[in-house]
Amino acid sequence: MNLQYHHKPVLIKESIENLITHKNGIYVDATFGGGGHSNAILKKLDKKATLIALDQDKESIKKNFIKDKRFHLFHNNFIHIRDILNKNRIYKISGILADLGISSLQMDNITRGFSNQYNCILDMRMNQESFYSAQNVLNECSKQELFHIFYEYGEFKNAKKIAEKILKERLKKNITTTLDLVHIFFIKGSFKKRKRFFARLFQSIRIEVNNEINVLKNFLLESSKILLPGGRIAIISYHSIEDRIIKFFFKKGIIINKINFKTIPFKMIHKKVIKPSFQEIINNPRSRSARLRIAEKT
Ligand SMILES: C[S@@+](CC[C@H](N)C(=O)[O-])C[C@H]1O[C@@H](n2cnc3c(N)ncnc32)[C@H](O)[C@@H]1O
Repeated sequence: MNLQYHHKPVLIKESIENLITHKNGIYVDATFGGGGHSNAILKKLDKKATLIALDQDKESIKKNFIKDKRFHLFHNNFIHIRDILNKNRIYKISGILADLGISSLQMDNITRGFSNQYNCILDMRMNQESFYSAQNVLNECSKQELFHIFYEYGEFKNAKKIAEKILKERLKKNITTTLDLVHIFFIKGSFKKRKRFFARLFQSIRIEVNNEINVLKNFLLESSKILLPGGRIAIISYHSIEDRIIKFFFKKGIIINKINFKTIPFKMIHKKVIKPSFQEIINNPRSRSARLRIAEKT
């Protein structure tokens, strides 16, 4: 079975069309997943081009490899993008794409613990070799750490209350399954309200497990160093925390609340963020929160 058909690539036309400026250039797909974007990039490139793809999930790497002489796939975190390229004697590239978050393959795999729709072990590691899972977060983080996770990554105003509830429950027994976590909270109101609460709760834990915010910030800095002038960076994000970081960096060169450059290293290709069309959302409801920003290295 080829799993790549299980993940529908998001904003594919909009991202690829704007990314490729040099048909024989070197490109990076930092988040290979089901290979949808990589396949589309390869179709647009000429014979002498190179596409380097990365994913920190071994399963994606194993199951979706693309047989093409121009294609090279690495099991690694995109925070190491510059090192990986340099080790392969690549110092500058024409374009880089990142489609953040998790794929449908990960979301729908009941052994991975990403979804509150199934009862399974709380894991949420994108990299199965990492030693820090959702169970570690929920059973070992201090009240202050949990508050930070729910406030910063879940944008919960009642983050303190959520942290306190988890602390109280874990005194009775370890929180080990998705159902254990869901049962801690009684959310009054509509189905939609409950759905939104748990989506944000799970998202905030996943962000912590995979250190997603720090990784993204460092990845943006590294990308700005390896792109050729005129080279482009396209990033698809799925929540406002990431989108804000990307927007600020592209527009002002600011990351981690400080200015990192004497002059802003990018110019925006589109002033406004690109969102999926109504038709794309109908065909692929998981695309609804996607936001694409594209910038060009100056
Ligand atoms: C939304 S999916 C990408 C889907 C892909 N664009 C496609 O068309 O099939 C995100 C993928 O990026 C990977 N990923 C997320 N963060 C990563 C990181 N820091 N380093 C490497 N891979 C990462 C995930 O494991 C997942 O497979």
